[in-house]
Amino acid sequence: MNICLSDGRVIPVEMHQVRIVQKKSLANINQRLSALKEAGYNTFGLRTRDIFMDMLTDSGTNAMSDNQLAAMMVSDDAYAGSESFYRLKDAVKDVFGFTHVLPVHQGRAAEHLLAKVFVKPGNIVPMNYHFTTTKTHFEMEGGKVVEICTEEAFNTQSTNPFKGNLDLEKLEETISSCGAQNISFVRMEATTNLIGGQPFSLGNLKAVKEIASRHGILLMVDGSLISENAYLIKQREEAYHKASIQDIISEICSLSDLFYLSGRKSCSVRGGFIATNDSRLYGRIMPLLPVFEGFLTYGGMSTKEIEAMAVGIREMTDVDVAGCSVELIRYFAQRLMENGVPVVTPPGGLACHVDAMRFVPHIPQLQYPAGALAAAIYLCSGIRSMERGTVSMDRDADGNDVPSDLELARLAVPRRVYTVSHVEYAVDRLTWLFNHRELIGGLEFTEEPAVLRFFLGKLRPLGNWGETLAQAFRESFGSEF
Ligand code: F0G
Repeated sequence: MNICLSDGRVIPVEMHQVRIVQKKSLANINQRLSALKEAGYNTFGLRTRDIFMDMLTDSGTNAMSDNQLAAMMVSDDAYAGSESFYRLKDAVKDVFGFTHVLPVHQGRAAEHLLAKVFVKPGNIVPMNYHFTTTKTHFEMEGGKVVEICTEEAFNTQSTNPFKGNLDLEKLEETISSCGAQNISFVRMEATTNLIGGQPFSLGNLKAVKEIASRHGILLMVDGSLISENAYLIKQREEAYHKASIQDIISEICSLSDLFYLSGRKSCSVRGGFIATNDSRLYGRIMPLLPVFEGFLTYGGMSTKEIEAMAVGIREMTDVDVAGCSVELIRYFAQRLMENGVPVVTPPGGLACHVDAMRFVPHIPQLQYPAGALAAAIYLCSGIRSMERGTVSMDRDADGNDVPSDLELARLAVPRRVYTVSHVEYAVDRLTWLFNHRELIGGLEFTEEPAVLRFFLGKLRPLGNWGETLAQAFRESFGSEF
């Protein structure tokens, strides 16, 4: 909840208390430099012992609630017919309004099954923006992802409240040029991950649904961050200021023919599911579940996770839960902007996104500015962020790099994990780095997998800039930090 202090500052105050903690330590600059070299300048390659604040992702890294942990103790480990599944089914029905639910081990497993059933070679899949694993799964089935976002989506200095909206005119054009029969479905991602956790509005979703159903096309929602999108709709869309998070979630879901999510985000648990009210669609996906994931009543999840998910689904409708990371992100972005550090605006869900194109404009895009920035952030703070730029795009069929629309270093804010003092530390080190930005140089690959190269690829700095930056850091703060 935001609280206004006597001096006029508005700070996010945690509406929970910490009952279990994990010890952390801060590796010093020399240790961080060798850890970064060993990781191949890729933050995915770091070990957590060398990380102070892990802002790589909010995925599977949220703090669970006492009630989620308690629910895990009463899980029913039956292979078939587990009562835990029926508690999940009830929660999905009560909160999302869907009758059919297929549990899977995580979001990309849902994408795998959906791609297998609905994406045929040559199909087009229009969406507000792609996510890495989504695109890979759809393309592996021979489909083509078409991004139909508005121009504003790529403006990192925007005040547009709904940069996750789909461009309705372009959708009509795409349908008439490709033919409705060649479109697998229209996919809307609740807070578009790769363009800065930006929400769509309910007004836009309703219009997308109207167009899609007029042409007999299914609407699919990726609800991995649905409670954050709902929170941002409540804040930013006039007609919904007084609506509850539950009301907004219900309305989003009532427009979805197909729905899936990664439970690792809004649900604060590991797992995921596909849901629908359409028995025919359910009947097409269902036979694949035991083949690729597991029996219908656990899919790819443990029954403990299923219990925790059932609770997490109900808890995400609490406005303090839906808003906890959104408000810390807003504060984080605002403090960075006060210090002149370029961040994506308006702040969204998921993370505070630093705009590498403006932070290190001297690094050409094919020398991976966002990757270099993520490496430099780790080096001078012990904070692990994630590259969301050209490194996250795989090469095209001719082996050429595909420059990303945006170059972002994403500092994710897992739910209920970090506090305002953590954020203040991050702001201080990022500001120092911004003031020494000319020391950061580009990167090149030394090992490069063909698919999803950002996970396992290794890079090296062009020139010796890691050493130079570390030396400047020692001069400012000493070697013990
Ligand atoms: N959809 C969205 C919008 C996501 O953000 C993710 C994962 C997935 C699908 C895939 O789900 O990881 O459970 O298989 N996002 C993570 C991230 C990886 O760090 O943003 P998953």
